[in-house]
Amino acid sequence: MSNPSLLILAGDGIGPEVMDEVKRIIGWFGEKRQLGFDVSEDLVGGAAYDAHGVPLHDDTMAKAQDVDAVLLGAVGGPKYDNLDFSVKPERGLLRLRKEMDLFANLRPAQCFDALADFSSLKKDIVAGLDIMIVRELTSGVYFGEPRGIHMEDNMRVGINTQRYTEAEIERGARAAFELAMKRGKKLCSMEKANVMESGILWRDVVTEVHKDYPEVELSHMYADNGAMQLVRAPKQFDVIYTDNLFGDILSDCAAMLTGSLGMLPSASLGLPMANGRPKAMYEPVHGSAPDIAGQGKANPIACILSFAMALRYSFDQGVEADRLEAAIEKVLADGARTGDLMGPEGGTPLSTVQMGDAILGALDASL
Ligand code: NAD
Ligand code: IPM
Ligand code: MN
Repeated sequence: MSNPSLLILAGDGIGPEVMDEVKRIIGWFGEKRQLGFDVSEDLVGGAAYDAHGVPLHDDTMAKAQDVDAVLLGAVGGPKYDNLDFSVKPERGLLRLRKEMDLFANLRPAQCFDALADFSSLKKDIVAGLDIMIVRELTSGVYFGEPRGIHMEDNMRVGINTQRYTEAEIERGARAAFELAMKRGKKLCSMEKANVMESGILWRDVVTEVHKDYPEVELSHMYADNGAMQLVRAPKQFDVIYTDNLFGDILSDCAAMLTGSLGMLPSASLGLPMANGRPKAMYEPVHGSAPDIAGQGKANPIACILSFAMALRYSFDQGVEADRLEAAIEKVLADGARTGDLMGPEGGTPLSTVQMGDAILGALDASL
């Protein structure tokens, strides 16, 4: 049997820096665990714009459709801020999500014991935290029509449309209920049914789908209250299901519960392919971090944990995913810290490469 295929799109800013560490980890699994991957690489975001004048070349899109999984670093940066909207780096990422139909974006937020002291919240509020945000990723206000900037009465008007079909809400809800069944059997759905019709439909459809998952305890919450509750008492949640925009914001908020945005991985999953694997792209939740790009300071853990999610969700290698997550837990427990994980007490932070070295060392020690 041939090896499963991976397409790496490292992107911009710290994307290539953190992805270099993932490549070493992939190499380790090939060499030490006989888990080989056929890895190819291509450009996305600003890097693709520089080479081709578009943030995602059609050939790259076709490759992404063809592989078993895509690993993406990050896109964007100040160099591209003034480009025409249609060719901005972020459009490349959104095109991948939309055309691969990656509707279920899994964003877990786990607080490693070693970092509980480091969160901006009190230790007992975050210690042991393990929540999963399921963000609908291919619809809502990110893609709804009409959109654009138009002239009305000699004035510019910016328009975006929140639009959800019941089928879109339902398939994401099923993904969220399925995850809840494998976890703590609790699902909280977040919308703003008090002010938005799409929120009323959202609540209605999720309630309908719940009939197929009677073992799961379902609650509904307005998303603004949800943001507050995430900071007040995050451990009340198990799985959260929410729309594209609320999910974007709530997952950055959840990131800080774990200590740093540099810790949060994600999996974007679609329908099963002919080989039974879901269409999938794995990417850290963070962006290209222009403020630290090119300095070797970025925390590679979010990107490495995204590869662990690939092992689990695309390649049925839960044991190896556990091994990788345990190696990360071990180095953190031993005090390994990149700059984003340094507390006020200071100390000398590890570089991106040194953090990669430490994790590879812990992987070796796991054998
Ligand atoms: P960002 O996530 O890039 O950075 C926010 C803050 O977190 C910065 O201070 C940064 O230094 C820090 N940070 C992020 N990841 C880190 C890591 N791995 N290690 C250490 N520190 C880290 O968000 P932003 O500054 O709002 O956006 C910058 C650019 O990235 C924009 O162009 C934006 O559109 C893009 N972006 C891309 C993605 C993506 O590719 N998935 C996600 C978010 C933002
Ligand atoms: C994310 C990012 C993206 C989003 C941008 C870069 C398109 O913020 O993945 O969280 O808004 O979805
Ligand atoms: Mn975001």
